[in-house]
Amino acid sequence: MCGIVGYVGRRMLVPVVLEGLKRLEYRGYDSAGIVYLQDGALVKYRSEGKLQNLENILGEAIGAPAHIGLGHTRWATHGAPTTENAHPHSDCTGELVVVHNGIIENYHSLRNELLEKGHTFASETDTEVLAHLIEEYLEDDLRAAVSKALARVEGSYALGVLWTGMPDTLIAARNHSPLVLGVHDEEGGFMASDIPPLLPYTDQIVFLDDLELVVLKGDSHTIYSLVTGDKVEKEVKTISWNSAMAEKGGFKHFMLKEIYEQPQAIIDTVSGRINPETGSVELPEMNLSDDELAGIERIFLVACGTSWHAALVAKYWIERWAKIPVEVDIASEFRYRKLLIDEKVLTVSISQSGETADTLAGIRLARDLGSKIVTICNVVGSTMTREAHGTVYTHAGPEIGVASTKAFTSQLAALFLFTLYLAEKRGRMEADKRLELGRELINLAAVIDAMLPRLQEEIKKLIESYYDARDFLFVGRGLNFPIALEGALKLKEISYIHAEGYASGELKHGPIALIDKDMPVLGLAPKDAVYQKSISNLEEIKARQGRLILIGTEGDEHLKCITDDVIYLPEVHEELNPILYTIPAQLLSYEIASRRGCDVDQPRNLAKSVTVE
Ligand code: G6P
Repeated sequence: MCGIVGYVGRRMLVPVVLEGLKRLEYRGYDSAGIVYLQDGALVKYRSEGKLQNLENILGEAIGAPAHIGLGHTRWATHGAPTTENAHPHSDCTGELVVVHNGIIENYHSLRNELLEKGHTFASETDTEVLAHLIEEYLEDDLRAAVSKALARVEGSYALGVLWTGMPDTLIAARNHSPLVLGVHDEEGGFMASDIPPLLPYTDQIVFLDDLELVVLKGDSHTIYSLVTGDKVEKEVKTISWNSAMAEKGGFKHFMLKEIYEQPQAIIDTVSGRINPETGSVELPEMNLSDDELAGIERIFLVACGTSWHAALVAKYWIERWAKIPVEVDIASEFRYRKLLIDEKVLTVSISQSGETADTLAGIRLARDLGSKIVTICNVVGSTMTREAHGTVYTHAGPEIGVASTKAFTSQLAALFLFTLYLAEKRGRMEADKRLELGRELINLAAVIDAMLPRLQEEIKKLIESYYDARDFLFVGRGLNFPIALEGALKLKEISYIHAEGYASGELKHGPIALIDKDMPVLGLAPKDAVYQKSISNLEEIKARQGRLILIGTEGDEHLKCITDDVIYLPEVHEELNPILYTIPAQLLSYEIASRRGCDVDQPRNLAKSVTVE
């Protein structure tokens, strides 16, 4: 989704904003623009396509002596991804500019009203309406004009506004679209739709809430409520992420770096939360009392995309170990169905970003119905964490590749902890068992770390006979069924090969009709409780000449009788196989996409953080 960067301070504007936009590239975009104030006039550059195109047309303007301005990467919603539709958008005078993320839902009627008043429009976007609406209300106070304009607006926005009449001030505002401030006494004031652009300059972050407006200057930031007009005092938070975490660090792609960061992300997510002596789990940020935990009758897990796959795995874990019935919902479905939710239901949202629009809407609905809300989230201070009653943070660090990898395995680690925690609190699991499972989880990071380089080499060789496939199936059973779904999603999103994931037992009910000598099938077949059943399904694929790749347990020679293409993984506790078996599926997708020359980190049409419905 779109990205905003704004800066006012002592540094040269263009490099700060350009670098910031590069750090938001992962969000997905199809055009970009930048505006700065120089000698009292606004200077604007915009281009279609990648930021490189913008950089090319900027030329010497990169060194412009400007110290206030805005940048934007646009992911088209209203109007094609052309230069004319790229942000920033100007009012009729050309003295006021706006960058905007989100959707102005009543832009049609506002546009007609403004046209009747004589405004002329230069784009097809909903955003341009904002520039003209602010112009309509502007006398000498930009804050007042923006507030009046936003009072007329229905929809979502994160907004940056610059006006020649107040040359030392940026205005920012948000409603249902993320926006954060970075502050630093010497460096100045920053705004951005996510944290990475701020990391080179400051670790002091202010997380804006909905319906807040900020007057941002080089040496101050003042926040106002758009509802009451009053000043709002907000905490400045110090974050633990640093600039290097959002860089490639010698890897060819962020995705590969993030695959290799998984052992550390798991350690960071687990450490300090599980007592290696007693297996006792501590999750104090969950904010639920023992009585509240004891009273839970059902759990709803709500998420989108890869996070939804983590939810599917967690259902198996929670029902087995904590013995609480679990329903799993895709957030965009959850929010529009009749929900049988009350105060005895715990709703858990799972979201890497904590900003996904559908998931947010889902937890708001559940909260209104009386449910307690816990979020499993990777971004400290994100909207979801502020709206939930409690949070279990994953500590994966910033994830930049659009295809989620380390965030997913960290979610699984956090959900496993969450399961052990519930099982303990509800007296469903003996201390010995907790201790055993807790230790296995702690040891898993080292197992993954040791196998990664060997695995990547093997997979690189293997994909030579598969990278040009048109279709791919992924199959798994039990805990590994959601991993088959995740493997297929990973492959389709970054390599554009059509891929589907199935529960192995479902093959007979349709998908087996697709199997022939041209159909590659990746089978997940660890030595687990459903191993024999999985093998029977895989034999059925072999009998129909499907091209099988099997991933199974070291030492399982039988797999070699089914196919030559076997990838062996170390044996771990079978409950943890979903974390382990995700890794080869990620590497397979990565290697195939790289071999096909795809843009691995920024796949076409996709956005990292989907902040509109
Ligand atoms: C987008 C991303 C996916 C992600 C999904 C949910 O579609 O491309 O990788 O799984 O959003 O995001 P969340 O931040 O809520 O986990």
